[in-house]
Amino acid sequence: MAKTLLEAKKIWYKYPRTDRWVLKDLDIALEKHKIILVTGPNGAGKTTLILILAGLLEPQKGKVLLHGEPLKEQLPGARRYIGVLFQNPETMLFNPIVYDEIAFAPRQLFDEEAVKKKIHIVLEQLGLNKEYLNKHTFKLSYGEKKLIAIASIISYDPEILLLDEPLTNLSRKYKDKILELIRNWREQGKAILIASHDVEEYTNIYDSCYILKYGKLIENRRSLQE
Ligand SMILES: Nc1ncnc2c1ncn2[C@@H]1O[C@H](COP(=O)(O)OP(=O)(O)OP(=O)(O)O)[C@@H](O)[C@H]1O
Ligand SMILES: [Mg+2]
Repeated sequence: MAKTLLEAKKIWYKYPRTDRWVLKDLDIALEKHKIILVTGPNGAGKTTLILILAGLLEPQKGKVLLHGEPLKEQLPGARRYIGVLFQNPETMLFNPIVYDEIAFAPRQLFDEEAVKKKIHIVLEQLGLNKEYLNKHTFKLSYGEKKLIAIASIISYDPEILLLDEPLTNLSRKYKDKILELIRNWREQGKAILIASHDVEEYTNIYDSCYILKYGKLIENRRSLQE
C-alpha cells in the first residue's frame, strides 16, 4: 500500500492584508517512491503550496500532516525530514563560504569528521569540483548558487523533498545530473514534489502531474496529453 509521508488536507491560504485566496480547499498527498509535478501559470500559488507543506506558512484553514500527525506540533524537529529548495537560491544561502553552507545542516546532526565525509560524497553526487568548497557563496553565479543550495539539502538526506523550479538557470549537464538525482531519490523511497512551469523537462520522471489553477489542483493525465 502507498505510504503517505506528508499531506495537506483542505488547505485555504491567503497572504496577510490581501483578500484573495491563493489556495482553496486544496488536497495533496506525498507518498514514498513518488514524484509529483505541480505546474501552473505565474502567480498560481506553486511556491505558496511548497511553503505551506514545509511548515513555513500556516494555512488559515485545513491541516498539514507529517507521518499522519499535525506538522505544526512537530516543528522545529520535523525540519530534518523535509528538504526545501527555494525558487530563488539567494534566499537560501547565508554562509559566506560554500563549505559552511553545505555543512550547516549536517553539523546539527553529526561530528565534524562525519560532516567532512558527507560533504565530499555530496560533491561527487553533483559532479562538482572540490575547489568550490573554499569559494565565497555570494560570488557564485545564480546556477552555481542553485547547485550549492541543492548540495546543502542532500547533505542531511531528508526523506521528503520540496523542489521549487530545481532546474532553472542550470546547464544541460547539471540539469541531467539533478534529474538523475531525483530519480535515485524516488528509488530510495523518498517523496518528492517538484513545482515548475516546465512540464516537458519532467515528462519522463513524474508519477503524477497537477495543474494549479484558481487555487485548486487539477490532475493532468498523460492519456489526455497524448
Ligand atoms: N508575501 C506575499 N504577500 C502577498 N502576496 C503574495 C506574497 N507572495 C506571493 N503572493 C501572491 O500570491 C500568489 C501566488 O504566488 P506564488 O509565488 O505562490 O505563485 P507561483 O505559482 O509560485 O508563481 P511563479 O510561477 O511566478 O513562481 C501571487 O498572486 C502572488 O502575487
Ligand atoms: Mg513560484
